[in-house]
Amino acid sequence: MNKYMRLFQGTAFSSKSSKEIQILKDYLFCINRDGMIEKVIAPENSDYQPLLDAYQGKDNFHQLAEGQYFLPGFVDLHVHAPQWAQSGTALDIPLYDWLNTYTFPLESKFSDLNFAQEVYDDLVGTLLANGTTTALYFATVHKESSLLLAEICAKKGQRGLVGKVVMDDPEQNPENYRDADTQTALADTEEFILAVKDLAKSTKQGVYPVVTPRFIPSCTDDALKGLGELADKYDAYVQSHCSEGDWEHGYVQDRFHKNDAFALHDFGLLRDKSVMAHCNFLNDDDVDLFTETGTAVAHCPISNAYLANSVIPVAHFHAKGVEIGLGTDISGGFSPSLFDNLRQAVISSRMLEDGVNASLPAGNRGVPGSRITVDEAFYLATAGGGESLSLPIGRIQENYAWDVQIIDTKLPSAKLPIFNENEDLHDVFQKIMYLTRPEHIREVWAQGEKVHSR
Ligand code: GUN
Ligand code: FE
Repeated sequence: MNKYMRLFQGTAFSSKSSKEIQILKDYLFCINRDGMIEKVIAPENSDYQPLLDAYQGKDNFHQLAEGQYFLPGFVDLHVHAPQWAQSGTALDIPLYDWLNTYTFPLESKFSDLNFAQEVYDDLVGTLLANGTTTALYFATVHKESSLLLAEICAKKGQRGLVGKVVMDDPEQNPENYRDADTQTALADTEEFILAVKDLAKSTKQGVYPVVTPRFIPSCTDDALKGLGELADKYDAYVQSHCSEGDWEHGYVQDRFHKNDAFALHDFGLLRDKSVMAHCNFLNDDDVDLFTETGTAVAHCPISNAYLANSVIPVAHFHAKGVEIGLGTDISGGFSPSLFDNLRQAVISSRMLEDGVNASLPAGNRGVPGSRITVDEAFYLATAGGGESLSLPIGRIQENYAWDVQIIDTKLPSAKLPIFNENEDLHDVFQKIMYLTRPEHIREVWAQGEKVHSR
């Protein structure tokens, strides 16, 4: 019997640092039975040829064809699973109205397990087909269908981190879509945590419960405090929305006379395993608090263009050392693709740097130093997401999970514009970043198992 469960041969792109990619040309990747990358072997290594000889021709040997490349599976740090049913619509009004007019009525329908099954099945399959091997999900207030989402992730092979959403304040939430009361919200959250932990015992790629106050406006002080205690008791992940747009940021200022970051921290909700969505309006003290507590930012560039009233200064936050990953924020962001989102992250940062109002003089128009490169945006979608979750994912490197997407640049119906056999591989990488569509993603693997192919 061969030592490794699988052996892969091909060229891979992975982040070396937040600014630099690493190109592993024609390497061997040795995957063990736990689905981890046990060894990464360069062609000049003396083990290379003997390993190839031992595995070539066997079922567990996978060699990439000409024009195919490995990328790490993407880590989507912010998805509202129920909102998949309205993706691409309803983006015509501000956040507060958007929630009350479209989103809460839609989410209330997830008390129906059949409807939840149909939408969640489709979403998890779609995200896998878009290269997303790990997703941090908001489900709805309903404990049962939230657990169903975790079960669907477990079954389809996606690493799912799932939260039953808490919205207990009767003043702020519609009668037909909120927790019955604070005690029920906390009891349901605890039951949900235990059920997902139980499911995790039989899930190879991992599935995790997430403590999920929707955002400060939807929760009472008692709920926020109780959720902080539950996060501590179970050492659980925490997610919420933080300083997203003018209205929400202002609401928290009025209620607590401080910014979201410090208010959340007072309730014990900023922890190493916390991921806060958006964060457009963090000031430098807020960012320092994130860095001190290990809290990460889920940057949602498409959604921000619609609901956040601003472009997040992501380069500035990165320079201050805070962990940042990327989120689709379905359906505030219409696209299930982190490729689309990493492109938008670059584009938005360029617009912030140069400014957008042509009637102002060039020197007053923008915020210098704001741009990020596509290599940095790739980092956010992969290694940055992994670091945000403190999981060994998002890199093609020893002791990381074998979570990869195989990109085919030579698909006959959708060839990428590569005309030179010896094209510089960093140029190939950039073409993949900007031009990949779901049809180019031929296979997706998570924790050493194939979870999608086309
Ligand atoms: N703030 C509270 N809920 C939501 C939501 O569903 N989407 C976004 N973008 N912001 C929120
Ligand atoms: Fe969101």
